Amino acid sequence: MKKKIIIDTDCGVDDSLALLCALNSDKLEILCITTVFGNVSVRQAAHNTSYILRMTEREDIPILIGQAKPIVQPLRYPPDFIHGKYGLGTIRSEYTGKNVLTTSAVEYLIQTIRNSDDKITIITIGPLTNIGLALQLAPDIQDNIEEIIVMGGAYQANGNVSPAAEANIYGDAIAAEIVFRSDCLTTMVGLDVTTKVVMDKDYLSVLNNHKLYGNFIKSITGTYYDFHVNCFDIHGITPHDLVTVLYSIDKSLFTTIQGRIYVSADGRMMGQTYVDRRTDIVPGTEWDNRIKSNICTEVNVENLLSEFKNILFQ
Ligand code: BDR
Ligand code: CA
Repeated sequence: MKKKIIIDTDCGVDDSLALLCALNSDKLEILCITTVFGNVSVRQAAHNTSYILRMTEREDIPILIGQAKPIVQPLRYPPDFIHGKYGLGTIRSEYTGKNVLTTSAVEYLIQTIRNSDDKITIITIGPLTNIGLALQLAPDIQDNIEEIIVMGGAYQANGNVSPAAEANIYGDAIAAEIVFRSDCLTTMVGLDVTTKVVMDKDYLSVLNNHKLYGNFIKSITGTYYDFHVNCFDIHGITPHDLVTVLYSIDKSLFTTIQGRIYVSADGRMMGQTYVDRRTDIVPGTEWDNRIKSNICTEVNVENLLSEFKNILFQ
């Protein structure tokens, strides 16, 4: 049986690669895609997702527009120097398919999860505002969630928006804390693993020759590639969100440990994902006895990259 999933995205460059992977995988059934602010505005994220679903001829999948800003903290300026002004490198999409529904993403998430006969896996590849709000408004849906797989955070690695914080967690630290303190099984696919995966020029040139998606991939990855060269001196791209979708497809590519994740919601450490690995908990402190998350610490890069190629070129 295919794994039933919902993807929550701020559809930029690596989100697009993640969507292409999920849409082409025979292991996943996408029930809907919800959008959130982050790399671009929440509406632009819906345009971009819409563009991808038209290109892949999958306009049967509903798109729901979610939250335009974090639950409490102010909205940050979108990182256009990373993903391009409209999130897809040089492409400007204004397309809105009929499958972009008018129901709010949070409401749709609640109803879809509540009414599903099977447990649902949620893959978040943007800030966690939509899913955080859904859990807050309807805690009963936790029983019908198989796992929440989060692209975000860092265990031993440094952050990418600050030394302490990764962008998706920093984007809405309070929402992330709601998710990690919930009773759902959560998995953190953070910078410890996602930055180890680099698609170099040779690898990208293979993707750029894909019959259906080659031109698209070429157009979206240019700005993102330049950002990696200029900021990190890496001649390649790190496809964070794609790595996260591949976790949902093949967990054997990863090594994980278990720990309780706490998110700092203010100050210098805002957005930090602190991992508590203690076995004994002292009762009565704010370090409550929340359930342990899976934390990805290692990834088999070679196998992961070849798995993505196989999925795309099958
Ligand atoms: C995350 O932040 C976004 O810019 C990317 O799409 C990814 O989801 C990486 O920190
Ligand atoms: Ca993203």
